[in-house]
Order: sequence, then C-alpha cells, then structure tokens
Amino acid sequence: MRMTAVHERFGVEVRGVDLRGVTASDGYPEVRAVFEENSVLVFRDQELDDGAHLRFGGLFGPIEVRSKNQADKAVVSPLTNLGDDATIIPEDDRQVMNLKANQLWHTDSTFLPAPALINVLAARVLPSSGGETEYASTRAAWADMPAGLKDRARGAVLRHRYAHSRAKISPELATGDLFTMWSDQAWPAVWRNPINGREALYIASHAYAVEGMGDAAGSALIEELTAFATRPEYVYTHRWQPGDVLLWDERATLHRGRPWPYGEERTLASICVTARDCDGLAAMRPGG
Ligand SMILES: [Fe+2]
Repeated sequence: MRMTAVHERFGVEVRGVDLRGVTASDGYPEVRAVFEENSVLVFRDQELDDGAHLRFGGLFGPIEVRSKNQADKAVVSPLTNLGDDATIIPEDDRQVMNLKANQLWHTDSTFLPAPALINVLAARVLPSSGGETEYASTRAAWADMPAGLKDRARGAVLRHRYAHSRAKISPELATGDLFTMWSDQAWPAVWRNPINGREALYIASHAYAVEGMGDAAGSALIEELTAFATRPEYVYTHRWQPGDVLLWDERATLHRGRPWPYGEERTLASICVTARDCDGLAAMRPGG
C-alpha cells in the first residue's frame, strides 16, 4: 500500500490495493487504520461491480438499508441523472433536484436512527466537466476553531430532518415519502473518534435546530459552524476519473457534489455503512 496526501490536513490517495481482494484479515486492518487517521481515501483504477462494492463496504459494518423494513436487501444506490429508459432526466425532475440537494454541504444519513459511518462511492459514468465531489475536514476545522465558537458548539445538540435539506432546494421535493418517513434525530455537534480520541464537528445540511435554542439563534449557529468548517483551507476537491472509488469518514467530514452540464450523464454508485457503538455512536446517544 502506497499513500500520497491529497490535502495538507486530510485525505490520501492509496495505491497498490485492489479493493476486490480486500478481506477482513488481509488488507482491511490496514485500510481501516488509514481511514481512522485520514478521513478520506481515494482509490484509483478499481473495477468494483455491485457485489464487490457491497463486500468491501460490509467489512466496515452493516450496509445501510434506507427502509423501515429491515428485511429489505442492501443494494448499491446509483446517483444518476439517467432514467430507466436510458434517457437523460430533465433538470427540474425530482430525481435531479434530489442530486442538487446533495450539493449542499452534508453528512450522510444524520436523519436516520443510526447514521452512517462511511460512504463508498464509485465512478460509473462521468460528465465532460464538473461533477466534482468536495470534502471538508470537520476534524481539522474543529482543531482550529476559535474558543468562543467552539464553546458554543460543545454541548450543543443538533436536530436533523431529511426534509429540511430538500426544502432548501424545493419545498415540493421535501414532501416526498423518502424524506418524511423518518422521525427527527438529535446528535451532539461533536463526534469523538474512539480509536484516536480526535474530535470533529458533526453537522449537516439536514440540521435545522439546536436543542434549547430559539429557531433563529439555532439556525444562525448551524450556519456559522458550517461556514467555518467549509472554509477553503479545509476543503479537498475530488475531480473524478474512471475507476475512482472514494471512501470517507462521515464522523469527520462534510461533503457535497458540484454541478455539471445536466444534459450529460453523471452516474456514481454509492453505499453507506451504518455507524455502530464501537465507532463512537454510543457516546452520541443521550447519556452516552
Ligand atoms: Fe452524500
């Protein structure tokens, strides 16, 4: 395994690993250790089909199933503007509007009863320009945060709702079942990594309120924290190449998609793995 930094504060490109061959005893311990320290891992020239994608993700924990029926099978989700009939979906269609909502700085699945630990995102079809994915290190930002702002964040509990981020793009989009089926979730604004003890701001576009604060003051704090954490010095912009697979730590980063010419196809394949108590989730629960 050879590593090169992609940003001075976080993120590494990892060479010499075929993700199809990584197993619990061979490769995973090394990848996991690099993940805990670096938050974003870039793998090039991979050939992950859906089965290999699910197998690799499953090494980190249970694959997220976004259904209330836990008997539903875990699947790879395409993030795409290509319709079932193989034509480009119009820009104002709900499916593309939802992709545009992913262009708000967010953390995946903070609106679920158990949020995500990681996302494993693989390139499938890339547009001729744009469509980057950007990452902000909320761990680096937390380390640098001025004491006054840090004091206000420490101890704060943020309320998350999927429909909140969708309503920023389109109030109509936010009414979809997919976005209203989960009750609101509350998470402390700081996630401590249980392996290395490093803390990170834990926030998302889905956060709409701070417990114990009025609406305006809560929104203002969420905005101020997000703005600080996404300053250019904390951001890595990933320009996709065919064969790329990205793996990131939802506990220590924010991310967002970037626009592309919507007349062209952009398809990425995504799976999330659900965080468990051993990943620091226990401490995020009330009384934890
Ligand atoms: Fe995302």
